[in-house]
Amino acid sequence: MLSLHGLVRGHDLELGRDADTGGQVTYVVELARALGRSPAVERVDLLTRLVEDPRVSPDYARPVEDLGPRARILRVPFGPRRYVRKEQIWGFLDHLVDRCLALLGESVGLPHVLHSHYADAGYVGTQLSRILGIPLVHTGHSLGRVKRSRLLDEGRREAAIDRQFNFPRRIDAEEETLEQASLVVASTHEELERQWSSYENFRARRAVVIPPGVDTSRFSPPSPGSPPEDAEWIDRFLRDPRKPIILALCRPAPKKNLARLLEAYGTNADLRERANLVVVAGNRDDLRLSEPGERKVHSELLYRVDKYDLYGKVAVPKRHRPEDVPALYRLAARRRGVFVNPALNEPFGLTLVEAAASGLPVVATKDGGPRDIVGNCRNGLLFDPLDPAAIAASLKDALSDGRRWRQWSRNGIRGVRDHYGWPAHVARYTKAVRRVLHRERKRLRRHVTSMRGAAVPAALREAGYVLATDVDDTLLGDRGGLRDLLAWLREEAPRVAFGIATGRTLPMALEILGEWGVPHPDLLVTSVGTEIHWGPSLSRDLAWARHIRPLWRRASLARALEGLPGLTPQPARKQSEFKLSYDIDPGRLWPLERLQSHLRARALHARLVRSQDRFLDVLPVRASKGLAIRHLAYRLGLPLERFLVAGDSGNDVEMLLGDTLGVVVGNHKPELNVLEGLDRVYFARAAFAAGILEGIRHYGFASRVPEEAPA
Ligand code: GLC
Ligand code: MG
Repeated sequence: MLSLHGLVRGHDLELGRDADTGGQVTYVVELARALGRSPAVERVDLLTRLVEDPRVSPDYARPVEDLGPRARILRVPFGPRRYVRKEQIWGFLDHLVDRCLALLGESVGLPHVLHSHYADAGYVGTQLSRILGIPLVHTGHSLGRVKRSRLLDEGRREAAIDRQFNFPRRIDAEEETLEQASLVVASTHEELERQWSSYENFRARRAVVIPPGVDTSRFSPPSPGSPPEDAEWIDRFLRDPRKPIILALCRPAPKKNLARLLEAYGTNADLRERANLVVVAGNRDDLRLSEPGERKVHSELLYRVDKYDLYGKVAVPKRHRPEDVPALYRLAARRRGVFVNPALNEPFGLTLVEAAASGLPVVATKDGGPRDIVGNCRNGLLFDPLDPAAIAASLKDALSDGRRWRQWSRNGIRGVRDHYGWPAHVARYTKAVRRVLHRERKRLRRHVTSMRGAAVPAALREAGYVLATDVDDTLLGDRGGLRDLLAWLREEAPRVAFGIATGRTLPMALEILGEWGVPHPDLLVTSVGTEIHWGPSLSRDLAWARHIRPLWRRASLARALEGLPGLTPQPARKQSEFKLSYDIDPGRLWPLERLQSHLRARALHARLVRSQDRFLDVLPVRASKGLAIRHLAYRLGLPLERFLVAGDSGNDVEMLLGDTLGVVVGNHKPELNVLEGLDRVYFARAAFAAGILEGIRHYGFASRVPEEAPA
């Protein structure tokens, strides 16, 4: 499992310390533990960011932490050492991908499944899944498109929020994750039907709803033998405390809709006669000093108590402690009351589960979370939260039939156990994952054997380093520099292997290398990363071809792109099995996002790579020069920092990111300026092959620093 942001540890979670340490952190830690306890699971590693920062506990700097049987947290450093908010880790995720590859390369056996949590981990999981062929499971937790449109509805400016929250990058990562994931786990039906469905790559048949497990051990129904709950702090408000309690318990937030609840109760004489209302909404100090949002909620509450003259009928305690909460549900259940949640919207509704576990029936807003909970447990009623009369009617109805009340109470207790306990979650989870593994077993078996078992050509077995360079305008362009670089390579062979990574097809690459008198490389990544050939015999890496083939429909892609403005197909000799290339007219070509949507709307998937103002390559989503390099690294058993990669234009970007030692030659195209300032991307002053040599010296690559040629 990958869950990258926030403060993650196995005990005393610092929930609410900041916006990144909350529900998701609880969820992943509890899920990891629960899975570890399941006999169906061999082992769980929960991978997160290692943080070394005096402002936070040293716990977050421990590389390994045990979570109990067969489960642990692994912390991997990437990006800054200090603790940063989640919006600030995007630029470092490629480094994490590479560190994970190194970690997995060293470990005994690969995981059977990767499970990413939230968009940032989705990005990393997607790359790893593409490179290693391990199926990906994803949980969104909160979705970029949904949050973005909410902020826009609130009147925020598009450019400002995109900058603050990184939405374009996040939404892009979510789309890519959906494209790659074998399974999406959602917490509620509403998350699938109203949230994920706004994504182009969402496919309902690859999604399941599994409600999060809830630790309900603190909540239990009142038992006849146990001592009665302390009720004094509630009853001091009430004229007749024996009446049933309608209990509302929530944060003092406007969207919790408490004012309408008071109106519903205050305007219905029957209901007022039948039951007392208890509203526990956070804690109040001096109202005039409290935070404006909370003050408003509390003032409105008290105003309505007065307006409808509800003294003696409504309890609004000033404060309560967390440990009072279980007893409060029990008290309401003992008095044959109901729990009410009138929120305007409720994505999950934890309190409803707690109430149900306490044997207290529920009456709640007709929205995503409550709909699922009441649907699963059959323990209450739903209403339209905008209609006070409907709220009152449901409450009255729920309190009117003693037999049904007892049935609902029992249903809730059983329903929580069957649907909301971690054991129930794990049972559904493992079943869904098993189905994925079964569905993908053939492809997986082939992949794993071909990746691990295939022999590396003899000449490469001694290589401890690889120089992988683009050809046109990087390796080639200046005879003098080329001669020096080839001399260096001759000297360092076989310790340093020589590889190329080019947009050319294999025959065209060999042709130009021949013209420039370059000897056969040890490794050839051609056709923009879609083909790999090994050794002097040029044997094709068939595992790679099999690996990138899924979702690739060349003919349909060509048809879908035919006639679009600014696209002219390149000549036949520049095309290949997994590469569909165009010359472009940059003034007329649609933006890449628009092309991408055009393809997705036709259920087509491709990676679009633009180089200079001249070329557009359409490739399988799993192929790029960068991903091909990572495949090679894995096959050779070398960490990515043993690869020095060099390039000059757009199709080189992917391989220059991450842990590889990147060199951008002095004569690069302007599109590579976006890489400036990134860790491990060196901008050489010298052009062409001399720029590569400058990069070799800069990094001290292969640790033998070549001497400057005497002037
Ligand atoms: C090379 C290829 C061409 C491709 C371009 C960008 O020039 O010949 O087909 O579009 O690289 O990758
Ligand atoms: Mg080039």
